[in-house]
Amino acid sequence: MGLCDDLGSMKPIPRLRRWQTFLIAAGCAFLQVAAAAPFEDTMAQRMLACTACHGPQGRAAADGYYPRLAGKPADYLYHQLLNFREGRRVYPLMAQMVDPLSDAYLLEIAEHFAGLEVPYPAPAPVNATRQEMQRGEQLVLRGDAARGLPACAACHGSALTGVLPATPGLLGLPRDYLNAQLGAWRTGLRKAHMPDCMADIARRLAPEDIAAVSAWLATQRIPTNTHAVAPSGMPLPQRCGSAPPPTGNRR
Ligand code: HEC
Ligand code: HEC
Repeated sequence: MGLCDDLGSMKPIPRLRRWQTFLIAAGCAFLQVAAAAPFEDTMAQRMLACTACHGPQGRAAADGYYPRLAGKPADYLYHQLLNFREGRRVYPLMAQMVDPLSDAYLLEIAEHFAGLEVPYPAPAPVNATRQEMQRGEQLVLRGDAARGLPACAACHGSALTGVLPATPGLLGLPRDYLNAQLGAWRTGLRKAHMPDCMADIARRLAPEDIAAVSAWLATQRIPTNTHAVAPSGMPLPQRCGSAPPPTGNRR
């Protein structure tokens, strides 16, 4: 299991291409399932194939790229599983794993991870200048009206822990993950349901803005209540297809 340990500890494995790393990760996941005896058919047991990458309880490694799943809004996680299956997000190994699963099972998986209570690690320090941090804070909390950029907090919640039913929190995510997601929206690699407000916002951010918001967000202290909050009742600054206003019948 030496290779599996390397994968788990996020050490780069020399001489391996990405697809080979994927195959080993899948193999390790199966080994982990096989080694865990006695086998109990619980959701936690069935999710070992996922937690091989996402961490034992669906929690990202502090320095890692794998996003945390624990405690994120169920509808948000559900949309992401559909997005991987349907090609709106691209990560081949995940697409392969969720491809054979029914919508109902994906929703069950989403609810399983949403219900996990796992403490957040303390934010890791990042290398950024004071101006960069100030720029990041301004964009996240107040936006930039001159450029038509709404504050991130207007949709992600004033505590930035997300808003029910489907807007995720922005704290406790690694800087690299934030940069990569905003970059993927800019280039069209990541999509959400239309109207895709995040694609629009990411395209209006300059690369320096993305670096600044990611640095600021990644270093914020996690509030005591990490849960997504109920909508404030204020209209969103723009429409988002994946977070439609409540209709009384959410699915
Ligand atoms: C080989 C490692 C790996 C495995 C195995 C894996 N994932 Fe992932 N997962 C990732 C990575 C990397 C991302 C981020 C991809 C990106 O850049 O968009 C991700 C993203 C996600 C997201 C989106 C999270 C967010 O905040 O937007 C969800 C939900 C998710 N995975 C669930 C699962 C589930 C459920 C399984 C098991 C069926 C699983 N993953 C198996 C690596 C993995
Ligand atoms: C108009 C509302 C709105 C605004 C303003 C907004 N967001 Fe979002 N954001 C969303 C929604 C809705 C999603 C979920 C999209 C999906 O389902 O994939 C999201 C998702 C994200 C994600 C993905 C999180 C993950 O775990 O993968 C990131 C990162 C993000 N937003 C960053 C930002 C930043 C940074 C800003 C400010 C510059 C911002 N957002 C402003 C609505 C908004």
